[in-house]
Amino acid sequence: MDLVFMADKGGVGKSTLAFHVATRLRQLGLDVGLYDLDSRGTSSTWAGESGYLQAYDLRRLQCGAPAHQMVVWDTAPHPDAEMRAELARAADLVVIVANGDRDSMAAAGDLYRAMQAAGASDLAVVFNGLHPVGREGEACVAAAREEGLPALDAYVRRYSCYVQARWDGVSVVDRGYSRADNAWADICAVTDELLARAAARLQAAD
Ligand SMILES: Nc1ncnc2c1ncn2[C@@H]1O[C@H](COP(=O)(O)OP(=O)(O)O)[C@@H](O)[C@H]1O
Ligand SMILES: [Mg+2]
Repeated sequence: MDLVFMADKGGVGKSTLAFHVATRLRQLGLDVGLYDLDSRGTSSTWAGESGYLQAYDLRRLQCGAPAHQMVVWDTAPHPDAEMRAELARAADLVVIVANGDRDSMAAAGDLYRAMQAAGASDLAVVFNGLHPVGREGEACVAAAREEGLPALDAYVRRYSCYVQARWDGVSVVDRGYSRADNAWADICAVTDELLARAAARLQAAD
């Protein structure tokens, strides 16, 4: 099963979510590979440093990456039409990452429609970096759904442990970071919802 994290914008959390969702899938006992298509190499470097995820820098692989039971793709911002078509073919589920701001929501809507047009079999929108206090999360999910976007119920709140974990080349649960329990609970909730959605979709296609 291939989960492809995408966004038209940079800095919204594609790599952070791809790395952490892959880590969670591995913790659940699945055979996971992380495919990195971004020239920054963020998630492949991160996974390599962590020492527990199989990561492939797809830009450097001439012959493709080995298959895994679960593949999580991290991608570059602003995918062009050719890339969108390739990712639509590869994905069982395209996961569009958005922040709570207006431009990010508009960008998510544009990419959603472009990926639908490219023939993606299933799409979801996930919000990242939302305020941990208050109702920003619920408000974003409701606003996205009003625009016809398939927003997940689960979202990821803003915690500095994600930034620290990137510096240390580990996941938020690998050290005693402040608020890591909350951050990890968000990752687990998002992963569960993505798995349930992808499984339901694959079953329906059988
Ligand atoms: N939920 C979050 N809370 C706090 N910081 C975050 C969160 N998600 C991402 N970040 C930080 O935001 C920056 C951009 O995230 P990144 O995953 O690299 O985005 P992208 O891959 O979309 O460019 C990084 O410094 C990352 O540590
Ligand atoms: Mg990235």
